[in-house]
Amino acid sequence: MQSVSYERIPTNIYKNADEASAAVARELAELIRQKQKEGKPAVLGLATGSSPKKVYSELIRMHKKEGLSFKNVVTFNLDEYFPMQPDALQSYVRFMKEQLFDHVDIPKGNYHIPDGTIPMEKVREFCQEYEKKIDSYGGLDFQLLGIGRNGHIGFNEPGSHVDSRTRLMTLDQTTRIDATLDFGGLAKVPRRAITMGVKVLMEAKRVVLIAWGEHKAHIIQEAVQGPVTETVPASYLQGHPNVQFVIDEGAAAELTRRKAPWLVEDVTWDKQMIKKAVTNLSISLNKPVLKLTNRDYNDYGLSDLLAQHGQAYDLNIDVFNWLQNTITGWPGGKPNADDTNRPERANPVKKRCLIFSPHPDDDIISMGGTFQRLVDQGHEVHVAYQTSGNIAVADDEALRFADFVVDFNEKFGITSADADKIFKEAARYLRNKKSSQKDSDEVRSIKGLIRKGEAKATCRFVGIPVEHAHFLNMPFYETGLVEKKPLGEEDYQVVADLIEKIKPHQIYAAGDLADPHGTHKVCLDAIFEAVNRLKGKDFMKDCWVWLYKGAWAEWDIDQIEMAVPMSPDQVVKKRLGIFKHQSQKDGVVFQGADAREFWQRAEDRNRGTAELYNKLGLAEYAAMEAFVRWKF
Ligand code: F6R
Repeated sequence: MQSVSYERIPTNIYKNADEASAAVARELAELIRQKQKEGKPAVLGLATGSSPKKVYSELIRMHKKEGLSFKNVVTFNLDEYFPMQPDALQSYVRFMKEQLFDHVDIPKGNYHIPDGTIPMEKVREFCQEYEKKIDSYGGLDFQLLGIGRNGHIGFNEPGSHVDSRTRLMTLDQTTRIDATLDFGGLAKVPRRAITMGVKVLMEAKRVVLIAWGEHKAHIIQEAVQGPVTETVPASYLQGHPNVQFVIDEGAAAELTRRKAPWLVEDVTWDKQMIKKAVTNLSISLNKPVLKLTNRDYNDYGLSDLLAQHGQAYDLNIDVFNWLQNTITGWPGGKPNADDTNRPERANPVKKRCLIFSPHPDDDIISMGGTFQRLVDQGHEVHVAYQTSGNIAVADDEALRFADFVVDFNEKFGITSADADKIFKEAARYLRNKKSSQKDSDEVRSIKGLIRKGEAKATCRFVGIPVEHAHFLNMPFYETGLVEKKPLGEEDYQVVADLIEKIKPHQIYAAGDLADPHGTHKVCLDAIFEAVNRLKGKDFMKDCWVWLYKGAWAEWDIDQIEMAVPMSPDQVVKKRLGIFKHQSQKDGVVFQGADAREFWQRAEDRNRGTAELYNKLGLAEYAAMEAFVRWKF
């Protein structure tokens, strides 16, 4: 078959953000060196945000280790919040200095970032000057871009015209919500920003847009495969003569070459691909698997599958059985049952299970029903809470607990001067805390203890002894800021030590494989590394690792290897378990774009999985939790 492309922008997909960032950094380094040879400046348009961080760190590495000089580099940043002081935590001036400029030999006057401090009436003039300055260098040789979930490039929000100039822009609600984390609350996110216009970006000699993670997959698909439209400003890049998108597997997930590869090229029809194609077909036609006909297959571009594997009738039955075999009410294995086609082994009948929960509530939110079944079915269940989760506790919640302890001491005549002092100081600190100020150590500890108490309450509720709740407090997390430290030896060690101590038959971990930044991915990396280090040990031969999806999306139906159904009563029980996390109810610190409470998100998702199985023609359950096995 001839390969067909639905993509209107050249797109390179890399295995992960690290490899992709290194490739982009290499291209930049080549450009800088080339311009050096020519005795010219390399004029770069730069972006901020989470996406380019690894590109910048790689450039710093090249500067330090490979002698890459930035003496001839001139840069123009895309944007800056308005108003914004350059030394504020969220300022792009500060970002660029910390992430790049302070670590390389770029001359001070060579970098330009829109000024967030100028008076409103001067903004227009400033923007014109900014463009003139770019022109005075002969325009941008290279523009690096990220993409917002709403398709913005720079801060050119949906609705921006293709000829728009550098200007003051009102930020879109999605953009402001995505910035809540950095500002510690939506109300604190500025409403405006100065941004280079789309026209300036379109005039750059080369444009490279980078995107990592599943949360960018939909917008990447729209920008690359959709029509050119002002509602997705990144789609304007379809008209750029020298543009390249560089993305990771997560961000590529919605492209046709990943979603329905048989429409694009010849594929190998293995079990996984057949399952993907047939479930896709069934969902698209809204027809149960067993009702699909040869004609349906042909019309959907699956004639090649029929040619190689025979009739729809046989394929349907195979896929139906594969799906059926993923469903089990016995996540720890069914004792004395033939386990040939079951997701888990029957033996040993009583297993040791270790659930890793990145934050103190992921265990119950993402796999509460399975957790409960494992306990009810007599397995020895441990939970390892990987981080304290302290930054997600609101200040007034911490204040409430601090007040409680002071009153408690007074009430019972407890005269521990130390305790009193710590808590009184924390209370004073919180009352006077300025916005975006980092919490003091005491306050962070109080917040961590609040979440620890909630996790313990869940464990009691599900029915495991408190000694089976392990609080790892992984050091990488404890910065007091959204920005975390890189994983270190201590982090690996604490995870590996626990695995070795428990010698589990099952490990459950939050498998947000494609989320390149978040705590979940870092926590998972630590588990992967620990398991890899331990895999030579005898007990590891009996250890299976099951991944649950920690974020709100679920595994694709064709990926699921174990689906654990829940009855209506079990759904309610799980809800009550989630309620133990009181600090995460009623408007949390990091609410994000989704206004639903955690228990609602969990229920919607579990119901959605059950409905999907049912639509494919399998039994109708109230809810289901889904897992994929990681074979190390
Ligand atoms: C940053 C910028 C924005 C970001 C975009 C993606 O200077 O102009 O367009 O590139 O919002 O942000 P991240 O990379 O944080 O997902």
